[in-house]
Amino acid sequence: MPTAIVTGAAIRIGRAMALHLAGKGFNIALHYNKSEPTAVIEEIKSQGVRCQSYSCDFSNLEETDQFFSKILADFDDIELLINSAANFIQENLEETQKQTLIDTMNLNLMSPYLLMRDYKCSVNKGMIVNILDERVRKHISTFGAYSVSKVGLKHLTELAAVEWGQTVRVNGIAPGLILPPQGGAPDYLEKAAKKVPMRKHGKMENLLQALDYLLGNQFVNGDTLFVDGAESL
Ligand SMILES: NC(=O)c1ccc[n+]([C@@H]2O[C@H](COP(=O)([O-])OP(=O)(O)OC[C@H]3O[C@@H](n4cnc5c(N)ncnc54)[C@H](OP(=O)(O)O)[C@@H]3O)[C@@H](O)[C@H]2O)c1
Repeated sequence: MPTAIVTGAAIRIGRAMALHLAGKGFNIALHYNKSEPTAVIEEIKSQGVRCQSYSCDFSNLEETDQFFSKILADFDDIELLINSAANFIQENLEETQKQTLIDTMNLNLMSPYLLMRDYKCSVNKGMIVNILDERVRKHISTFGAYSVSKVGLKHLTELAAVEWGQTVRVNGIAPGLILPPQGGAPDYLEKAAKKVPMRKHGKMENLLQALDYLLGNQFVNGDTLFVDGAESL
């Protein structure tokens, strides 16, 4: 059975993708940081696949450097890497704290970069999917470091698609309004949906459909699927 590595897979979008892939027969190498992954591991295993969890703080690049070799020791048929772990810190450019900038770049851009490099060097087949954000098309600076990190990750997605296209496909998914931010007000989605051309928010299944498309279509490389109801336009 093929193996998928999913970062940030104990909760929310990463968790949904890991469960979805388990349902399609993928073994799961499940990354988490602070969330408790026991329940999702059990749920994944109940689908008849293997699941091993790996804790790593990707804001610390020394930890990131050790991450991939641990997975290689446990799984030998890796086919997919999904970089979903990220922070989302609301500080505009002039408010940005140095530590926010360092943590955000390490977690949202540098760690995916290192994991992609390790994937290419040791796996060299299958696909990498980077989870971006519809904000990469916009110039709104309210989440300054976050936006810059995601734009960088989109560019990295494209560079890797060009450099590695003969062996590894690299694509992005840019979600729009899917889940409220953690701790968001109960009516967050309903209010925010007013700014989406379709006047509604997306659902997790819309992201999973994007993932299925990228898995199935073997000639799509270097692309980013915007699952955002045209909000980014
Ligand atoms: N939610 C949306 O509607 C939306 C919209 C646009 C883009 N996105 C993108 O989609 C992806 C998932 O979003 P989400 O809303 O599901 O994320 P989330 O709820 O904010 O969760 C963040 C994830 O990142 C992990 N993480 C945070 N700090 C970490 C660190 N220092 N080291 C390693 N992992 C760390 C967390 O792991 P632990 O919980 O284990 O600590 C968690 O799995 C992100 O890349 C986000 O930018 C989401």
